[in-house]
Amino acid sequence: MHTYKTQKDLELYLDSMRENGKNIALVPTMGGLHDGHLSLVDKAKSLAEIVIVSIFVNPTQFARGEDFDDYPNTFESDKLLLQSKNVDALFLPSKEEIYPHGTLSDYKVGAIGQILCGAFRPSHFDGVAQVVKRFFEIVKPNYAVFGEKDFQQLLIIQSLVKNLNLNLKIESMPTQREKDGLAMSTRNQYLSDLDRERAPHFYRVLCDVRDSILIENSLTDAKKDAIKRLSQNFEVEYLEVLDANNLTQIETKTKEIIIISAIRFGGTRLIDNVVFRRMNV
Ligand code: PAF
Repeated sequence: MHTYKTQKDLELYLDSMRENGKNIALVPTMGGLHDGHLSLVDKAKSLAEIVIVSIFVNPTQFARGEDFDDYPNTFESDKLLLQSKNVDALFLPSKEEIYPHGTLSDYKVGAIGQILCGAFRPSHFDGVAQVVKRFFEIVKPNYAVFGEKDFQQLLIIQSLVKNLNLNLKIESMPTQREKDGLAMSTRNQYLSDLDRERAPHFYRVLCDVRDSILIENSLTDAKKDAIKRLSQNFEVEYLEVLDANNLTQIETKTKEIIIISAIRFGGTRLIDNVVFRRMNV
C-alpha cells in the first residue's frame, strides 16, 4: 500500500493510474477504522481498480467543545486493516495540505444541513461538505463511498455532487452492526462498560417504531412512545420519521421511510437510523 502525504505526490500516482485506464474509488475517513469502514473499502474494490482511503480528522466539521482533540487515533491498526484489504493508497494529508488558503469555505449546504444533526451541530455539515469537496478536487475519483449510518451526511454529499455538477458517482453501504445491534461507530470507544451494555436499546427502539408503523399504528403514537422509552436511558436530541429520499415530512403515499435519531448518554453522542419500505400505500 502506497502512502501519500501531499496532494502533489498523490496526484502523480493517480495521474499515472488514469493514464493506464484505471478507475479510482475514494473512501474518505477520519480513521478509528472498524468493520463499517472496511465494508466501504470492499464496496470501493468492487467498483474500481484503484482504491484510495484518506484519513484526515477534519477540524472544520467540529464545533468548539466537541471531540476534535480527543478523536480516537488508532493509526497503526488502521494501517494494518487497510493493508489486509489490499487498499492501493492511503492519503494522509496535513491540515495545511487540505486548507492551503485557510479554512473559510465557499460552499454552503443550505436547509438540509440545518435540520436533525444540523440543528444540534450548526456548522457541522458545512465543514463536512467543505472537506469532501476538497477531497473530490484532489482525488478526482470516479466513485466515492460513504456509510448509511451518517444518512444525512450521505444525502448532503449526493446533493453537493449534483449542485456542483461533479463527474463522479456516490455509492453507499448499509450500517454495520455489532452482534447486539449497536451500529458500529468510532465513537463507541468512548462508552463506559455500563453504557456499552445499555447502548443496543437505541437500535431496538428504532426497530420497534418501524414495526409499529408497518402494522399501521399511528405514526405520532409510535414516535411518542419511542421518545418516552429512549428517555428512560438516554437524552434524546431528536427522533424523526421522515421521507428517506429527502428527509422531508412523510405523506400518506410516501413509500421509503427513515426513522432517524441522535441520543446522548454519559458524554457520548450516538446516531442511528432504520430505513424501510411501506408496500401497501
Ligand atoms: O464520515 C466521516 O467520517 C467524515 O464526516 C468524512 C466524510 C470523512 C468527512 O470528514
